[in-house]
Amino acid sequence: MTYLLGGNKQTQERRMRSVFKRGGMDFSAARVAILNVLKGARAGDLPRLLHWIKTTSDFDEFISNNDDVILRSIAEDLRHSLPKEAMLDSEHTALQKLQEQTKPTVHIDAFLYDENCIDSLCEKGKMSRNYCLTCGSHRTAPLEFISHSFSLTEVKFLYHHVLPDLTGKVLVDVGSRLGVVLFGGYFHSSASHLWGVEMNADFCQLQEAIIAKYQLCERVKVVNADICTQASLLQNADVVVMNNVFEYFLDRSQQARCWEFIYQNVRKKGSLLVTVPSLEKSLAELQVDIQLNQWVEAVPLHYDVYLEEDADREALEEINLYKIL
Ligand SMILES: C[S@@+](CC[C@H](N)C(=O)[O-])C[C@H]1O[C@@H](n2cnc3c(N)ncnc32)[C@H](O)[C@@H]1O
Repeated sequence: MTYLLGGNKQTQERRMRSVFKRGGMDFSAARVAILNVLKGARAGDLPRLLHWIKTTSDFDEFISNNDDVILRSIAEDLRHSLPKEAMLDSEHTALQKLQEQTKPTVHIDAFLYDENCIDSLCEKGKMSRNYCLTCGSHRTAPLEFISHSFSLTEVKFLYHHVLPDLTGKVLVDVGSRLGVVLFGGYFHSSASHLWGVEMNADFCQLQEAIIAKYQLCERVKVVNADICTQASLLQNADVVVMNNVFEYFLDRSQQARCWEFIYQNVRKKGSLLVTVPSLEKSLAELQVDIQLNQWVEAVPLHYDVYLEEDADREALEEINLYKIL
């Protein structure tokens, strides 16, 4: 591969770009080429070059695929349209419930802020992972973090490891909020229709803006409604997704009413229901007449699949899949 090293720097770079563009090199040829570039570097510049290789973000575009780049761009757009905690003044019950938490809690939307984003905000002093137990002392304890959206890793786990091939299938996300499940499904599944039902009008507007900007309207639709008015959507769905939909947004009697509506209308035999947390946990403190063993069968999931390094295994284990009987 010495041909890469001949000529001046611009010529070398041009040749290198054209070789990569043609996609001509296999792994071992590319490895040798990279080693040769390092061998060809001036001795005095080598430490700087190695430091750049280890720390640069210039390689990010090669690491993430194009779909993830678009999803990250959607996250950036949404970040600019929302306050840092991604909660809106119109979410009265959710804001009230936040104040009632016994442990200091922050809302951080896991789709908008991944671990790297949170680290960098903490470094800049704009966020903290801890709170002070005694003001002025160094005694601190970790804050509780709540996310109201799936992270990108969770969404990819959902479409690649939880759900089967969705070609031609209809998915309904109950409480679609920022649209993470819908946009993730657009890029990471072949579902023919991805419906979001969201009771908060402000969040529906945000989702509509993203659908228009990224031209997702052929497969993604959002309905601004209480799920309890959407019987036929639920009856016809092949997959229904419910990520922590009611607990933080409704009082107990409203939660019970919604769950009974879901129980009555998610009935298509063989269709799939995804819940976070499990149905048992979601219903434990509610007064509902739901016969789980006559309604669904739990489908075991494998969590030992390869995922990004920062995958939160505990969060993935909260994802449950059921088949409707
Ligand atoms: C935790 S978020 C789920 C976000 C999204 N599905 C995801 O996984 O990224 C729950 C959302 O459900 C909405 N919601 C709660 N009760 C609802 C209802 N009865 N009908 C429609 N939306 C509801 C809330 O406004 C909130 O935005």
